[in-house]
Amino acid sequence: MKKETHVIDWQAFLFRTWLIMPIQVMCLKLLLISDLHSNPYALEAIEKTESWDEVCCCGDFVDYGPFPMETIRWCIDHHARCVLGNHDAYVLGLSEISCTEAKREHRFRWAHDNYCQLTEEGLDFLRSLPRSLSFSADGIEYQVQHQYDQAYGTIESEEQFDAFWTGPQKKETERRLVFGHTHRQCVHMLNEHTLWLNPGSVSYRRPDDHDKRAHYMIVEQGKIRFGKVAYDRMPLLNRAEAYLKQGTMLETELQDAFFFFGNALTSREPLPESCTKLPKTEKGDHDCETC
Ligand SMILES: [Fe+2]
Repeated sequence: MKKETHVIDWQAFLFRTWLIMPIQVMCLKLLLISDLHSNPYALEAIEKTESWDEVCCCGDFVDYGPFPMETIRWCIDHHARCVLGNHDAYVLGLSEISCTEAKREHRFRWAHDNYCQLTEEGLDFLRSLPRSLSFSADGIEYQVQHQYDQAYGTIESEEQFDAFWTGPQKKETERRLVFGHTHRQCVHMLNEHTLWLNPGSVSYRRPDDHDKRAHYMIVEQGKIRFGKVAYDRMPLLNRAEAYLKQGTMLETELQDAFFFFGNALTSREPLPESCTKLPKTEKGDHDCETC
């Protein structure tokens, strides 16, 4: 019932207004992150490794991870500029009734788990997110959006770039589109003044990519640097193990978690029978042979 109560949250309103205002800054060290997926431990590892002036997140704050509120709280506390991701929109479309039904019908997912954990503050944060935002830094124009199309399409030509770009098209000014969604780090240069980039996912990789580190980008005075840092995956794996013992979550969702945060070689490995003892390596790797 608490989640159905609507009271104007002025802090959230001001935060949202600030997010969509065009901002111009000079001599900026920018942290670009995306696809956090309820993983604050990866964010903490980035924070221990890097410093920055502004942080910008390309969406997917929730789903496919166990700690949605901690992740959202990190973004609020760090005054991140953020846009909505497709997983955020999906979780916002859930309800307590749909989550209860999912559990009863044995199709409970991380999305349902995340919805159940979200407080009104968390829901307000997700509801306040714009689809895109623009800003200018060090003479470069940026436009940020979670994804290019409804699938995993990418911009391959200057014509496609110009058609997508919603701001002024000054050919002499460098323009950069920033996307998330694919979970793959890249910089795609269309010409010397026009590029799009993707900082990759803070949280997890695609099935063909076994790198378990948190991915991000640093842009300092316009210069782009790729970042990757190992983090403690054990707390996320422990939560998956707890769900495994409860037997309430879909098997495929748990297989994903053991691939993302454990040492499973694919996201469709058989689930471990028992993982009560999980030795930890120096970097938080999961050493249980059966997992
Ligand atoms: Fe994602």
